[in-house]
Amino acid sequence: MTFMKNIVLIGFMGTGKTSAGKLLASRLGYTFIDTDQCIEKENKMTINDMFLNYGESYFREKESELAEKVAQMHHVVISTGGGIILNADNMKYFQQTGTIIALTADVDVILERTSRRNERPLLERENRRQIIMDLLNTRKNLYNKGQFVVDTSHLSPLQVTDEILKYLRKDGK
Ligand code: S3P
Repeated sequence: MTFMKNIVLIGFMGTGKTSAGKLLASRLGYTFIDTDQCIEKENKMTINDMFLNYGESYFREKESELAEKVAQMHHVVISTGGGIILNADNMKYFQQTGTIIALTADVDVILERTSRRNERPLLERENRRQIIMDLLNTRKNLYNKGQFVVDTSHLSPLQVTDEILKYLRKDGK
């Protein structure tokens, strides 16, 4: 099955964008791209170190440059960093060439999934639940920009992938 457009997965940290993105890419025969991994590779630095040494705004610049670049590629599934939606330009790039799918999850699930590894600088503070709720609150309207939304709270990455494929087939994206 081939679709013309790229697939772009947006959503908060811990909603499963990377796991579902990889599976989706292999099911569609598309190339998988993870924006965070690309930024780390291109800059030879972890995102944690980038935040620490250069600050969030520097990371956001790199993220936006990358968004513009990868949106111009063809037949790619792009799993984005949770904050990519903060810049309206990024969404404009993605909308031009891609179908945007939003993944969501309950706060408890996000808390659990993001506690497994310490690689998210925005959550490296006391009271992570509160931080997550505050960030979700300020960003919720931006995540709603997805053309299709999947609540991944109680789904495996395989099930999330199936939901997305069902949507793509139905709507002929
Ligand atoms: C961020 C999410 C992270 C990463 C960075 C900032 C955010 O990506 O880009 O730590 O602002 O929500 P994941 O959503 O892949 O964890």
